[in-house]
Amino acid sequence: MINFLVRLYLDLKYILWSEKMKTFYITTPIYYPSNKLHIGHSYTTVAADAMARYKRLRGYDVMFLTGTDEHGQKIERRAQEEGKTPQQFVDDIVIWIKDLWKTMDISYDKFIRTTDKEHKEVVAKIFKKLYEQGDIYKSEYEGLYCTPCESFFTEHQLKDGKCPDCAREVEKVKEESYFFKLSKYQDRLIKHIEEHPDFLMPQTRQNEMLNNFLKAGLEDLCVSRTSFKWGVPVSFDEKHVVYVWLDALSNYISALGYMTKNDADFKKFWPANVQLVGKEIVRFHAIIWPAILMALGEELPKQIFGHGWLIINGGKMSKSIGNVIDPSILVQRYSSDAVRYFLLREIAFGQDGNFTNQALITRINSDLANDLGNLTSRTIAMIEKYFDGKLIGKGTENEFDANVQEIIKENVSFTEENMEKLFFNTALENIWTIIRRLNKYIDETMPWVLAKDEANKEKLAGVLYTLAEGLRIVSIMIEPFMPTTPSKIWAQLVITKGDLTNWDTIHNFGALTEITAKKGENIFPRIDIEKELTELENAQQPIEQLQSNKELEPEVPISIDDFTKVKLKVGEVIECDKVKKADKLLVSKIKIGDEVRTIVSGIAKFYSPEEFIGKKVVVVTNLAPVKLRGILSEGMILCAEDKDGNLVAIAPEKEIANGATIR
Ligand code: ME8
Ligand code: MG
Repeated sequence: MINFLVRLYLDLKYILWSEKMKTFYITTPIYYPSNKLHIGHSYTTVAADAMARYKRLRGYDVMFLTGTDEHGQKIERRAQEEGKTPQQFVDDIVIWIKDLWKTMDISYDKFIRTTDKEHKEVVAKIFKKLYEQGDIYKSEYEGLYCTPCESFFTEHQLKDGKCPDCAREVEKVKEESYFFKLSKYQDRLIKHIEEHPDFLMPQTRQNEMLNNFLKAGLEDLCVSRTSFKWGVPVSFDEKHVVYVWLDALSNYISALGYMTKNDADFKKFWPANVQLVGKEIVRFHAIIWPAILMALGEELPKQIFGHGWLIINGGKMSKSIGNVIDPSILVQRYSSDAVRYFLLREIAFGQDGNFTNQALITRINSDLANDLGNLTSRTIAMIEKYFDGKLIGKGTENEFDANVQEIIKENVSFTEENMEKLFFNTALENIWTIIRRLNKYIDETMPWVLAKDEANKEKLAGVLYTLAEGLRIVSIMIEPFMPTTPSKIWAQLVITKGDLTNWDTIHNFGALTEITAKKGENIFPRIDIEKELTELENAQQPIEQLQSNKELEPEVPISIDDFTKVKLKVGEVIECDKVKKADKLLVSKIKIGDEVRTIVSGIAKFYSPEEFIGKKVVVVTNLAPVKLRGILSEGMILCAEDKDGNLVAIAPEKEIANGATIR
């Protein structure tokens, strides 16, 4: 009896333990609510989504968390500018963000908002606990603050007296604040990073953190503010609100019910397996976040992965520079599967990578339309043509089969190894090695030649069997990256989601027994790149930059000081041309006194270059330059716009020299 109970106990323990081993918790950062989330933001979510889907396919119980970071002075100010309450402002944007994630097929399990009641309660409890145990103390803060970046800087961190990150003005602030004793955890953090080589990936980020921050010495961290209200109030000192990073970072555990009665998810999923972040916020996740967890006495995440940036025209994509690429336009034109594939295939995860429309379309054509698309359509078409769509048995093998099966076997295990390391681009290379091998197999075996002789029927059946079974294996492997393409392939192989679409079936070649083939839609039609590039660029025009932005039209009175900030001068158009591949744009050379500037304007529908030359116009001369269609535009030509969007350039009423100021 005792023996039996001990046995039962051990069995139960084993079952519980193995259940625990089969969980996978992955997070993205929580996004600042902005209605201009761009392809760079989608990069983090798409990567996390591929990993979450992969782990689900491998039988894990997955928790994939994403959400929004909604507090702080920046939001408070933006809401005010739009005449909304901060809550209304963020509510509207969150609807939009959720919609974008739906468009991109992001399969998050939970979407957390830092304005959720449950989250705010947990943050208040964490703050109180850390205060009571002496990890948070009250003092006074004096520093230089950049509101858009929500960051404090010291004098020597500034660049030309301005914010080192965004080059905007900083404000000097001095206020009573609470501080978190970050310095106390410095040695433990160094030790943790040194003893856990997988904790911070890729490797280069470890040296960065150790040498640039940890070994240089940590200062205590300001964790409350009194100068704005939009945040979680400090429960025992209500004039303070919790300052953003403590609030934001806590989302990863508040989402699991940490410190509440419903903490089953916390017990089940914490510590997180992987927390994905962009490289600019690695510092917060690899230093501040673990220190908070140490103070709370909780385990640290198993891994923080700091990925690189999507770069465009040599710089990080950013709203303020105006070089953002809208992912929904791309998805609408090429499907979410194609955009997701490109993001994860083109750039080595961890490094920076350049985004160009040309690279995107080139990849769609070569990898998706050519390699995968052709393999699918040729395989299905030949089974239909030579066997009336029905292949019974596996036929006979030929001299190329052993190699094909070897390549598949090898690349299935490479893919699995690379996925564990989040090497998405190499995993995709492995899968495409299989696809290309299968396409080569068609050329080697020449089924159309075999088909000429009835005596080769079994040999031909063998070739088509290998192709169909290979295609089935590939269709399962691409699922984490391209969630909607597999079912399009399965429809043509007439298999339904079930036993034949399980990941485990790809380890043994030959699971497919009876094959029915039914021609369907072309999964990735080839794109005419020349034509498409022009059309895509037109669709991507940042029209709001070129024309007056209605949202920004001031409803509130401005002071004369505000007005004189805008520098206006008379200029004369001395050259003018159409901008190639952008039918709304003209590029002009404008003489303003002694200088000549290049200005791009969205007026091609209203003026021909010939009629525009020689005109006197009004130019905003102190507008930050922007690159439009690769041309640096140094100012803006003022136009009047009617309600139908017709534009007329503003001109001086009588003759006056160019360079004259307008006030
Ligand atoms: O940082 N390329 O939010 P966020 C690649 N709220 N990734 C990019 C990118 C680009 N061009 N631009 C942005 C925040 N990202 C905080 C996080 S977490 C407790 C708080 C990535 O909206 C960026 O690196 O500015 C980050 O991982 C994510 O988008 C959210 O950025
Ligand atoms: Mg950011």
